[in-house]
Amino acid sequence: MGLPFKQYILEDSTYKGGGKKITMPNGIEVHKLSSNENPLGYSPRVKMALAAALNDLSQYPDNTDIRLREALVKDFDAMLTIDHFITANSGSEIIDIISKAFLNDGDEVIVSQPCFLPYSAFTRWMGAKAINVPMTIDYDYDLEGILNAIGNETKIIFLASPNNPSGNYIPRKDLQWFLEQVPENVIVVLDEVYRHFAEAEDYTSGLSFILEGKNVIAINSFSKTYGLAGLRVGYCYAPLHISNYIRKICKPFLLSTLALEGAIAALEDTYFVDQTVQLIKTERKYVLHGLDALGIKYWPTQGNFVLIDPPVPDAEFVLFLEQRGIMVRSVGNFGALGKVRISFGTRAANKALLLSLEALLKSMAISV
Ligand SMILES: Cc1ncc(COP(=O)(O)O)c(C=O)c1O
Repeated sequence: MGLPFKQYILEDSTYKGGGKKITMPNGIEVHKLSSNENPLGYSPRVKMALAAALNDLSQYPDNTDIRLREALVKDFDAMLTIDHFITANSGSEIIDIISKAFLNDGDEVIVSQPCFLPYSAFTRWMGAKAINVPMTIDYDYDLEGILNAIGNETKIIFLASPNNPSGNYIPRKDLQWFLEQVPENVIVVLDEVYRHFAEAEDYTSGLSFILEGKNVIAINSFSKTYGLAGLRVGYCYAPLHISNYIRKICKPFLLSTLALEGAIAALEDTYFVDQTVQLIKTERKYVLHGLDALGIKYWPTQGNFVLIDPPVPDAEFVLFLEQRGIMVRSVGNFGALGKVRISFGTRAANKALLLSLEALLKSMAISV
């Protein structure tokens, strides 16, 4: 008798995230534009809160994470209560908890590629199947296609707005129409970890739908706007009939004292959040304008990153930039074959990026 390995796990490849920061010879500065991180780092108030929390690590953290959820209530202008929120060790962990809470062997979820890899990876780890309803050629959701793909086994639909890696969003009226069509036994997970960066007038988060009691779970993270990718904190909010159910499988003492204190301080520093959002909006314009000037094709984005069609094969493109100390990410494995995602960085990083792209185009012109 063999070990009780699960066949669907044996068949899976180990999930890999974005790479670690490279180092360059001769002290050349490295610009990491490959993981949608915050170019401003993180709030000094978080640093102080973490330093203070170091005195207290011999004790268990607050088991109920209640202070973090109270801070979230405040952040949502008291439109939600502490019971609407679930906190966890990252947005990714929230996706995992949702998968565990709702999926069984043989169930189906719907994803739309290109999209964040954990939606389908964590689905597979539950023995369930991810059905892909690809985005349109312009990287928009095929919402009708998704509705048509709903079957008896469908439990969850994953949507992201803005979506990673394509940067597109779902306009309010489209999302409203879609949610009205989704059967009542299906959960819509709306990943809104990039929501602060969206500036389209008809952008919407999941809040109004959740207040209406729709079967929507909105995923958020402290990795992007708050610059705390290394601390690992995320949360979701959902109508009470869903959040109180999910809470039953949340592990005790899931968030460390450092994660709790850091996240609370991050929510309090609204000045840092404003600075971050402002920087991303300014740099997004700057980079997109630069790409236009160079004639490099990209897709409209509401995120802190842009998806481009590189002028040379993606692996070659990534290597060319890496040799100049600029890290970007090829996203074929997200479902955007041959495309590259570039995060917006500081002005210095973005300038270095555009200069390198210009050099690449010049070298191509010379070699033909
Ligand atoms: C669309 C999307 N959702 C969720 C996450 C999860 O972020 P984290 O696990 O760092 O909280 C990411 C991170 O890149 C993302 O791009």
